[in-house]
Amino acid sequence: MTGSGSNIQHWKFILVQDRENLGKLARDSTSGKWVEGANFAVIVLTTPTFGFHLIDAGRVAQNMQLAAWNYGVASGVFTGMNRAALEKDFEISSDLTASIVVGFGYPLRKIIGRKNRKPIEELVFAERYGEPFDPQQLKT
Ligand SMILES: Cc1cc2nc3c(=O)[nH]c(=O)nc-3n(C[C@H](O)[C@H](O)[C@H](O)COP(=O)(O)O)c2cc1C
Repeated sequence: MTGSGSNIQHWKFILVQDRENLGKLARDSTSGKWVEGANFAVIVLTTPTFGFHLIDAGRVAQNMQLAAWNYGVASGVFTGMNRAALEKDFEISSDLTASIVVGFGYPLRKIIGRKNRKPIEELVFAERYGEPFDPQQLKT
């Protein structure tokens, strides 16, 4: 259901459940070796000739993560990969690129705690760049 640039839906998805193939994914990754232990993973393929293809990859990955979490399924992503090896291992068509991989699984322990995120005042400006944003001064 995720939107994409001009609603082109230029993406494809490979569902990886086989343990051996999850191992392959881990070997092809530079920042997601953990995927070897995932219950399953989805390789998100997008069409790199569209300037917005990585934005669309992020949109669909985040939506999958939110939908999964709704069912108590945790997930992580990786974008660091030996792209040539991954695209060969999974026989990916040359007009597509592996943009992001999302791995899913039930968490081994209860996930609690606060997210480590920058304060909103550091990220948001009011009306123009640099003008401080005060969350107490929102118009109603
Ligand atoms: C060790 C490590 C590796 C990560 N690798 C990637 C990556 O390859 N691609 C990516 O988009 N984000 C990567 N991230 C960022 C995570 O996707 C996530 O945005 C961040 O850790 C915040 O997670 P949280 O929502 O659980 O706090 C990585 C984070 C960590 C800690």
